[in-house]
Amino acid sequence: MNPSIPPYDLESRAHELLPPEVYIYYAGAAGAGATLAANLAAFDRLRLRPDVLTGTIAPDLSTTVLGARLTLPVAVAPMALQGLAHPEGDMATARATGDVGTAMILATLASRSLEEVVAAPCPLWFQLYVLRDRGATRALIDRAVAAGARALVVTVDAPTSGHRRPGVLSEFILPQGTRLPNLAGLPAPTPGAPLREYFATLVDGAVTWKDVGWLRSVSPLPLVLKGILAPEDGRLAAEHGVDAVVVSNHGGRMLDGAVATLDALPAVVEATAGRLEVWMDGGVRRGGDVFKALALGARLVLVGRPVLWALATGGEVGVRTLFTDLRNELETTMIACGCAAVGDVAPRHVTEGTMIGTPRSPR
Ligand code: FNR
Repeated sequence: MNPSIPPYDLESRAHELLPPEVYIYYAGAAGAGATLAANLAAFDRLRLRPDVLTGTIAPDLSTTVLGARLTLPVAVAPMALQGLAHPEGDMATARATGDVGTAMILATLASRSLEEVVAAPCPLWFQLYVLRDRGATRALIDRAVAAGARALVVTVDAPTSGHRRPGVLSEFILPQGTRLPNLAGLPAPTPGAPLREYFATLVDGAVTWKDVGWLRSVSPLPLVLKGILAPEDGRLAAEHGVDAVVVSNHGGRMLDGAVATLDALPAVVEATAGRLEVWMDGGVRRGGDVFKALALGARLVLVGRPVLWALATGGEVGVRTLFTDLRNELETTMIACGCAAVGDVAPRHVTEGTMIGTPRSPR
């Protein structure tokens, strides 16, 4: 780390402010944390290879995703329980994202309801866990459609809460009074029970490609599958009429030892060959990371934990500042690399490098 910069980043500040159990739930990862570390290291390993003398000074950062115009190719990943970071929770995130002109994915396990959050001025995409109760799943989809959600993002990498270090993620206990308004009408969690147990009773771990066909048939919304790592699954998604896949390993929270998402991205892009949009998440902390993911073929990049740190430290203003910083960093990188538009960012702008010294500071 540069010795002149104090290690006073967003995460450290959030760590100071959040109750320890909430910080651990947010920051935590599966097993030994190898996947989480790999996601971050993959960005560190990749280096930029700029084009010079291009005359680029005012690049266009806007893009189109699922037909929606976004001012930058970065959106908010679905994250449960944002109300534990800030009283306004998902509302603050949605208002800030709307202000900067991008989109947010609202989690099934969000602290605020679809109907509340959809009032914010950002395109809202709804993250769906397929529930054991298909009738309740259908009702949730209908609710998302009625509320005005613009896409259904189905998470496919959570057949089980995975092997997690005892006392870290697996035993997170929902605090008294936790609201899960998108699941109103379904059995509430037992007070004092771990979130993992509640998740297991609620979510269907035995979902298959047949269910993807069912989702397609019951939902008029664009369909996105989140949690794809294998190129074959990207191909299958295209064959099932899916509109986008998110190359994701759930931020290293599910399967320890899974491939880093940036490493998995190029093969999924190649296998799907433009038949659907390929998004990615996992370890994106800076605008330079966004640039690297674009260079390897991502159409959209989702940001996870940094949004929680921004929420915890500054609520709506914090999230707006985070996105403004990401925007400025991406703009600077595009200028320096000679890219006038997001579509100009290409594989030749990155190259494998050697990791020397300490990795970059976190966000
Ligand atoms: C998540 N993520 C997640 N994903 C999902 O599909 N449904 C969910 O309910 C949640 N909940 C959730 C809670 C918390 C606290 C975190 C940190 C993450 C995963 C999320 O969408 C995304 O894939 C990762 O967070 C991306 O990695 P980074 O940016 O956090 O490294």
